Amino acid sequence: MHAWLCENPTGVEALTWKEVPTPQPGPGEVLIEIKAASLNFPDLLIVQNKYQMKPALPFVPGSEYAGTVQAIGEGVTHLKMGQNVACLSGTGGFGTHTLAPAKLCMPLPEHFPATDAAAFIMTYATSHHALVDRAALKAGETVLVLGAAGGVGTAAIQIAKAVGAKVIAAASTDEKCALCKELGADAVINYSTENLREALKTLTAGQGPDVVYDPVGGDIAEPAFRSIAWRGRYLIVGFAGGPKPPRPLKFPVVQGASLVGVFWGDFAKREPQANANMMRTLADWYAQGKVKPVIDRTLPMSELKAAYALMGTRSVKGKLVMVN
Ligand SMILES: NC(=O)c1ccc[n+]([C@@H]2O[C@H](COP(=O)([O-])OP(=O)(O)OC[C@H]3O[C@@H](n4cnc5c(N)ncnc54)[C@H](OP(=O)(O)O)[C@@H]3O)[C@@H](O)[C@H]2O)c1
Repeated sequence: MHAWLCENPTGVEALTWKEVPTPQPGPGEVLIEIKAASLNFPDLLIVQNKYQMKPALPFVPGSEYAGTVQAIGEGVTHLKMGQNVACLSGTGGFGTHTLAPAKLCMPLPEHFPATDAAAFIMTYATSHHALVDRAALKAGETVLVLGAAGGVGTAAIQIAKAVGAKVIAAASTDEKCALCKELGADAVINYSTENLREALKTLTAGQGPDVVYDPVGGDIAEPAFRSIAWRGRYLIVGFAGGPKPPRPLKFPVVQGASLVGVFWGDFAKREPQANANMMRTLADWYAQGKVKPVIDRTLPMSELKAAYALMGTRSVKGKLVMVN
């Protein structure tokens, strides 16, 4: 097998494409032939030694991928040879094969292409957990999605629409806003050219959004929070826009609103049954056409470094997917 090896976690430049022995699965593991792997934020941090998880060296980055089961370790009963699966195991995806813990593998229904499946778990699980579980978003409510053309943002638009909410999507360019409209957003705001607070007042008749989904943070967080409706829920999902701003705690009081932290990874570990139920719902929604990953482009696995470079440009819409 071949894989991108991180022998020295000093950044993307130090990754090397190497031939390594194909491992055999131990108890509870499966060997997967990888068809596609998507890029997520932690994939960049992990090769720079900046991520909370620090794998033993050398390791193969690539947190999320999809492929076919080629060998099965002892004690694995829910997967069979030749089965198509998606997996989010933290590492291993940027190669031709990997060992994965069987319990983290999601068996794929028919007609679920590997390119979509590789771009599914992280973004859709995060956005479903945030909107449905943490914010208890209801049909008829209004949700503001920030960074709405990004990975978790595009999933959040589709999930909020599937729930029956009104979606206001906010992003930094007209092109990104146009994509959000195509995905079903009821209204869009370009926060590079429009005043977010004024636009939200107009779009919600002065009431503000019931739920704010924020994977961006930075300067946009304060005007977004100040606009929230009475009893609103502000979902803190991530900080793609830079360092965390000190957020004055008076705003939740003034708005009678809640700041709600979202950590899907720990939810999946602490509440595996609830997570499995959620993933089944999402797979059903995929089959019904209610959700579909937005893929900016696919690139051959050999062009991983170019994909990492694109990630840093803020120009990606949806997800980047590497294919073998
Ligand atoms: N809490 C959880 O469980 C969880 C799970 C998954 C991901 N996350 C976090 O969520 C955040 C977004 O993840 P993602 O996969 O959706 O990322 P992404 O696809 O890169 O999207 C992030 C969006 O943030 C906006 N942004 C603003 N300033 C930026 C900057 N300086 N550089 C890059 N993007 C910037 C961009 O939209 P505009 O250009 O339109 O502003 C971009 O589309 C990350 O911080 C990630 O770690 C959290």
